[in-house]
Amino acid sequence: MTESMVGSAAGAGIGTAESESRFGAGFGAGVPSGPGVAELRALVAAAGAAPSLHNAQPWRFRPTGDGPGVLVFADPARAVPLADPDGRGMLLSVGAALFNLRVAAAQLGLPVEELDLMPGPLGVVGPDEPVAVVRFGPRGIPYELAELAGEIGRRHSSREPFANRDVPEAVIGELVAAAADEDTVLDVLEEAGARRVLALTAEAEARIAGDAARRAETGSWLRAEAAGAAGPAAAQDGIPQRALGPQDHEARVPVRDFAGNGPARTQRFEALPQVATIATRGDTAADWLRAGQAMERVWLVATARGLRISVLHQAVELPDTRWRLRDPESGIGTVQVVLRVGYGPPGAATSRRDVDDLLRDPAGPAGER
Ligand SMILES: Cc1cc2nc3c(=O)[nH]c(=O)nc-3n(C[C@H](O)[C@H](O)[C@H](O)COP(=O)(O)O)c2cc1C
Repeated sequence: MTESMVGSAAGAGIGTAESESRFGAGFGAGVPSGPGVAELRALVAAAGAAPSLHNAQPWRFRPTGDGPGVLVFADPARAVPLADPDGRGMLLSVGAALFNLRVAAAQLGLPVEELDLMPGPLGVVGPDEPVAVVRFGPRGIPYELAELAGEIGRRHSSREPFANRDVPEAVIGELVAAAADEDTVLDVLEEAGARRVLALTAEAEARIAGDAARRAETGSWLRAEAAGAAGPAAAQDGIPQRALGPQDHEARVPVRDFAGNGPARTQRFEALPQVATIATRGDTAADWLRAGQAMERVWLVATARGLRISVLHQAVELPDTRWRLRDPESGIGTVQVVLRVGYGPPGAATSRRDVDDLLRDPAGPAGER
């Protein structure tokens, strides 16, 4: 199935900016407005800063061969098969990376003329089938999405307790609009809804924690802390200890127990956690990419407003709890993302893979990991 969407290029005019070195034949050749090498790297670096399930960063990128653009791939070698058997979390993550790429393109004045989600004939997710194709139109000036570029590096998962302070209605309105711009529905839940979703999350968390194979899989993405570690030996993926928060003393917020220690460190969390869900009308691979883009758009807008976010994905990972997440009244659509939103510490930065690694062709000789 091909899902097309014409990207908004609000404010983009035709400029004359020449990019620096070209990507030789095939990339930008004869198209003066295409991204140059350094710009391609900037686009990919922004994409790579996105959140991903267990910080697996399951994405790769390649310039399009026929005009200026970028092919976006999911990387099945970086799947998390027990937590994410159908690849939903993988495509949510790739969708988030795709949104960051669009923000970076806006900053470079590269309008997204065409964005195809799951362009392959069968909706296949494989190492050689792009899950999205981004095509750029003639270069102009930076446009609206560029406003979010500064938030990409400021956004982190914050798993600490939040303050007992409501998110103002006006900010909620902005988050809802951000999700709607990506063709999804964000619902900031009232008290009863939040309690229902937290209870489902706690149920899923208990089932996941009770599964030894799943515990081992989660644990394999934890990274030991090496103070000041840098250079090639430093982990480039996974979750470092410093990014983990405490468990909730009152068990109101079912934070994922990454370390599998149970409540080793507990603290009192906010009395009524503010919970938002992002739902899509359909439940196809393209919808997962859409939800991922929406999640990142919401997260960057929230970051700009001083809000913190952490993902509570456990109930989405089990088919029955995912089904029960949907709004019992409207019952419309599929909940793809559950977010805890509030005011608190920013969360710790986590590592990312090198841009070279993200641009490497897995079929080529340098493609082995
Ligand atoms: C699909 C998806 C599911 C996630 N699930 C959880 C989760 O259940 N609990 C959690 O604390 N973080 C979760 N995260 C957040 C990731 O762990 C986080 O994005 C990653 O470690 C990188 O850290 P950062 O967000 O600070 O950049 C999830 C992220 C994605 C995209």
